[in-house]
Amino acid sequence: MKIIDNPYELRKELKNKEVGFVPTMGALHEGHLSLIKKARNENKIVVVSIFVNPTQFLEGEDLDKYPKRLEADVKICELAGVDYIFAPNIENMYNDSDEILIKAPKVRGYILEGHFRPGHFDGVLQIVLKLFNIVKPKKAYFGKKDAQQLSLIKQMVKNLFLDIEIIEGETIREKTGLALSSRNVYLSSEEKKRALSISKSLKLAAKLSLKEKNCNKLKKEMMKVLDIDKLQYIAFVDREFNYIHEIEEKNSIILIAGFVGNTRLIDNIYL
Ligand code: PAF
Repeated sequence: MKIIDNPYELRKELKNKEVGFVPTMGALHEGHLSLIKKARNENKIVVVSIFVNPTQFLEGEDLDKYPKRLEADVKICELAGVDYIFAPNIENMYNDSDEILIKAPKVRGYILEGHFRPGHFDGVLQIVLKLFNIVKPKKAYFGKKDAQQLSLIKQMVKNLFLDIEIIEGETIREKTGLALSSRNVYLSSEEKKRALSISKSLKLAAKLSLKEKNCNKLKKEMMKVLDIDKLQYIAFVDREFNYIHEIEEKNSIILIAGFVGNTRLIDNIYL
């Protein structure tokens, strides 16, 4: 396995190779690992990027304290059979003080996560496009845990005619139901217990939705179960992120975002 920080060097290495690509911000957990394993099974060459992208963090967010564990991440990648880690520094990736910018779509990029984190998806799409241009993957792997991100990346591939197949990975959960996230390390054990109410409420809604299709009624039932400090949204959308009022089987997503203590958590369920 090679670790490369220079975009031009990586591009040279990967020239004419069929690459499966897993972009990450490091602090790898089983969720990332399941994407890496999938990529390993489906591609000759697997590249994992590790880069905490500053442009997708808002003022006051956790950019500075975002968990960094490069040494452990390298071990995980090595054991998983990754061929290349791309671990650039900020100057490698942002080499101009007055850059060409990518703008997330006005509606789908500025609702839900985009409403509470305005500009977040501009930064995500900016870095993902840069990474795609460096790695030139045939397939790129993203988790359904970040459902809105996944949907916007698929839209970018379509709108900008990128020749890349986006592969979706299932959300990986602890046995308790808690969705794995690099931010879970911020939770105290008491907070972790209450955070479980998020996945519980989603599961409940999924079960009830077999009979009850009305989203308002489902939301009321979810609210009874939730035990978090600040709810930002419970939302019902179709797979293109248009709001819905009735659950449509195999075309709906229920999403939650909120704070447990100072930690912001998101989760969702695809129906
Ligand atoms: O999902 C993430 O970890 C990040 O948003 C991504 C896609 C690696 C871009 O920085």
